[in-house]
Amino acid sequence: MITKQLEADLAYTYKKLSSRELEKLSGSTILITGCAGFLGFYLLHFLYYYRKELSLKRVLCLDNFMLGRPEWIREMEADECFRVEKFDIITDDIASVPGAEAADYIVHMASIASPVFYRLHPIETIDANVFGLRRLLDYYCEKNTKGFLFFSSSELYGDPAPEAVPTDEEYYGNVCVTGPRACYDEAKRFGETMCMLFAKKYGMPIGVVRPFNNYGPGMKINDQRVPADFAKNVLENQDIRILSNGTPTRTFCYIADAAAGYLKILLHGTYDYFNIGIDRPEISIERLAEIYQEAGKELLSYSGKIIHARSEDQEYLTNNPGRRCPKIRKAAELLDYRPEILVEEGVRRFLAFIKESTESGKPGEGNLLW
Ligand SMILES: NC(=O)c1ccc[n+]([C@@H]2O[C@H](COP(=O)([O-])OP(=O)(O)OC[C@H]3O[C@@H](n4cnc5c(N)ncnc54)[C@H](O)[C@@H]3O)[C@@H](O)[C@H]2O)c1
Repeated sequence: MITKQLEADLAYTYKKLSSRELEKLSGSTILITGCAGFLGFYLLHFLYYYRKELSLKRVLCLDNFMLGRPEWIREMEADECFRVEKFDIITDDIASVPGAEAADYIVHMASIASPVFYRLHPIETIDANVFGLRRLLDYYCEKNTKGFLFFSSSELYGDPAPEAVPTDEEYYGNVCVTGPRACYDEAKRFGETMCMLFAKKYGMPIGVVRPFNNYGPGMKINDQRVPADFAKNVLENQDIRILSNGTPTRTFCYIADAAAGYLKILLHGTYDYFNIGIDRPEISIERLAEIYQEAGKELLSYSGKIIHARSEDQEYLTNNPGRRCPKIRKAAELLDYRPEILVEEGVRRFLAFIKESTESGKPGEGNLLW
């Protein structure tokens, strides 16, 4: 079942794509790793909902389900166009996946994205982004792929120097190689280097995306990223707990906008790397908490306060960037990527989605809980 809010979001994403972009998907086979996570939820629902309009041939959905096998994936499995496989990108052989050799488009998303959880699995995080990526590149480098999308991260910029915020794609970054986030940041950086080298050597049409702080339908509320934490607090009518002094700033990009950017890069057909996020407004975590509080009152009769607390995770704030805000001109100019959903509206949509999912008695549908 697709909730009304999710349906509206998917339609919004669809409209953001040009007819030329949509046509490229016609008759295609798409292979996606890490399909059971937050972004997987949204992209798979997009492909599932529009599978007929897009005339998709096949979607091969791979995940090792290390964070659980979500309920919603069952509905897709039942469709002949979709094939879901328990598959570990670090150890399993891609050639063993039926239909993998014919994939037109590859999306490599397998990698835990939540800092709390990737710190519990640091070696696996490196391996998924380095060895997992390498195995995919080796397998597809001499095949006729039309697009290969690697999910890097805005975290490859580390804690940017003040003059480098807003951050464009040419900033080299300021990353601590031995800190608690290094397993993620450095693995993404090395992954990007491999993408550049394979694109050069084999002419592969690799698109590299650096997502900036997404939130929205599909984000598990136990995920321990800030938008998920605040959603959980509101849903449970608990006080909103800020686990820092509240001053770090971010821009928050709603998934319906970001997903359009991801698909545009996948369909771009040539090597390049892009920031995908939203460039306004850059707000403090304190302000984000207020936005959740206001939207929660409006939609869920929320009555909690905003409080400051300490995370049980000792490393929670180590190397946490003070500011994160992208420049997105490159994606606007080359891909016509134009995000429009500002954070107040996005939080309302996210909470509306959660409300609908829980009221329908199917929290699993929204992939809410592990
Ligand atoms: N969501 C964001 O705001 C954001 C920001 C920057 C980068 N990214 C990147 O986008 C991608 C997807 O992010 P997300 O938010 O959906 O993450 P997520 O943590 O919600 O999901 C990741 C998925 O990858 C799977 N996975 C992990 N290791 C695997 C392996 N070895 N083999 C197969 N599957 C494996 C997990 O089981 C999980 O289902 C990740 O590569 C992440 O680094 C996301």
